[in-house]
Amino acid sequence: MIQILLETDALTVRFGGHVAVDAVTCKFRAGELTAIVGPNGAGKTTYFNLISGQIAASAGTVALNGHNITRLGVAERCRLGLGRAFQLTNLFPNLSVLENIRLVIQSRKHNGLGLFSMADNHTGLIAEASSILERVRLDTQKEQMVSELSHGDQRKLEVAMLIGLDPLVYMFDEPTAGMSVDEAPVILDLIAEIKADTSRTVLLVEHKLDVIRTLADRIIVLHNGALAADGPPAEVMASAVVQEAYMGKELDHV
Ligand SMILES: Nc1ncnc2c1ncn2[C@@H]1O[C@H](COP(=O)(O)OP(=O)(O)O)[C@@H](O)[C@H]1O
Ligand SMILES: [Mg+2]
Repeated sequence: MIQILLETDALTVRFGGHVAVDAVTCKFRAGELTAIVGPNGAGKTTYFNLISGQIAASAGTVALNGHNITRLGVAERCRLGLGRAFQLTNLFPNLSVLENIRLVIQSRKHNGLGLFSMADNHTGLIAEASSILERVRLDTQKEQMVSELSHGDQRKLEVAMLIGLDPLVYMFDEPTAGMSVDEAPVILDLIAEIKADTSRTVLLVEHKLDVIRTLADRIIVLHNGALAADGPPAEVMASAVVQEAYMGKELDHV
């Protein structure tokens, strides 16, 4: 039995009269990368906000690793293993890149059930943070303050923070948006590495068709807030709903 790490059941949010996410029922399994596609305004980011707790659901539930987290706040969901790519607002802008990573690793270790090990001393934490920064190719910028980083490097740092947090569920919302063609592959390779860990699940909101083809094990389509398709990439790409609604629009700029 493949473990279900995340599940939404009839998850719904209304803004005034507008139903932005409409009774979405979906399971996300360990070892799987699910691409979430749909036109602008389809509700993809709002679905992420509901899962991570940035906004409260009007109806329905979210379960993380079998626990109902619908009424929990962002920080508590994060502690339980829900990892949404950090925004700059979650970082300390006047601390170095390395210090930001060290702090997230330290907070994870103190929250966890793990025993206090050799790796929990300051030197160990710095070594772990440094190795993550090498993986995201930020090691040469590790002493820089976060506020001084370029846009592309800030996005890399967001992914590095997520790796430092080591959640059960990784959530990426257009992770390479605004990145140059030589920066994007670094991020995509990291997502591929994360996906290779069969005890985690990855949710990826993405428009770029080549990225979806390379990484996705499964695609779900949101349309007007509702789940319009769910299945293997080849099947969903070929489906009438995707062909008609998206191929001529959002996905064709690839
Ligand atoms: N906080 C909010 N208040 C009111 N309407 C919102 C709010 N957040 C999102 N929406 C609306 O919900 C719909 C879905 O938006 P969004 O989730 O950002 O779409 P996507 O990420 O798929 O482009 C849009 O019509 C958007 O205007
Ligand atoms: Mg969005």
